[in-house]
Amino acid sequence: MLIMNRPRRNRQTDAIRSMVREAHLLPEHLIAPLFVIEGKNQRVPIKSMPGHSRLSIDQLILEARELDALGVKCVSLFPAIDDKLKNDKATEAYNPDGLNSRAIRAVKEALPHMMVMGDIALDPYSSDGHDGLVDPKNGEVLNDPTLDVLAKQAICEARAGVDIIGPSDMMDGRVGHIRRALDQEGFERTLIMSYSAKYASAFYGPFREALDSAPKKGDKKTYQMDPANGSEALREAALDEAEGADILMVKPGLPYLDIIWRLKQEFTLPIAAYNVSGEYAMVKAAAQNGWIDNDKVILETLTCFRRAGADVILTYFAKEAAGLLTK
Ligand code: PBG
Repeated sequence: MLIMNRPRRNRQTDAIRSMVREAHLLPEHLIAPLFVIEGKNQRVPIKSMPGHSRLSIDQLILEARELDALGVKCVSLFPAIDDKLKNDKATEAYNPDGLNSRAIRAVKEALPHMMVMGDIALDPYSSDGHDGLVDPKNGEVLNDPTLDVLAKQAICEARAGVDIIGPSDMMDGRVGHIRRALDQEGFERTLIMSYSAKYASAFYGPFREALDSAPKKGDKKTYQMDPANGSEALREAALDEAEGADILMVKPGLPYLDIIWRLKQEFTLPIAAYNVSGEYAMVKAAAQNGWIDNDKVILETLTCFRRAGADVILTYFAKEAAGLLTK
């Protein structure tokens, strides 16, 4: 039978499929988020994230070495801070001898070529559990007074040696404020990967368990974005671009592939996607039940991020995926 167009012709063998494939996934596209704790020889499992633990710095180095050997070029560090060190001003966020600074220095010393990304937000350090300072009178998360604390945190991380600063706090004007502060201190080469479109999402649950960083009161809806909004992501991204961001990020990932796509069409900056803790937990839960194929779902998921326009993917699957890709 004559059918002029037979799309199946391009799918009939591995050879032709790989020749016409549009999106490719490589270990260097991945950033591995890692959780850090005090102590020695500690690997404290995170219940809602099977396969992930909070790592003491010596274990963090071992993990970074494994990632390095698999071709992953960047780790993003999240310290779990002792409750005793948290206060309403989040002063531990810019302690040059604090856990975060020591972890950054240790990775850069052990593996100078491995990029380290540091998170900028106050929640792991704040007794209120919010990303910004809280007005004790009414519980409001204060924008402008927070900016100086974020800038101090960024300079502290830059001094410890981070290559990439990742503001995840969603305060207005923070990218410009941090950029100016970094340049004034001579850190003009430090990148900013801005969490541009960060949504007020229920998919962050396991992360907040890992760091014990959930807000003590209220939610994050006055600063993180409404999941119902798309155009607003373009506005946020445009501001971050104008304020000097080097890479624009969308977070969470899978339910927000349309946002990744829209940013990729609109901007020339590289686009990153954060495949967050809840997305990881869902795959692991189903895989442990034997309901889905763990390895295939991981590679499909990450490839779809690339197809949607993500140049870079932050994912808790980084080590597993890189292992599968280099097999
Ligand atoms: C904190 C921060 C969060 C995540 C990254 N940085 C949590 C939050 O905003 O409450 C979430 C990451 C994840 O769920 O994997 N500013």
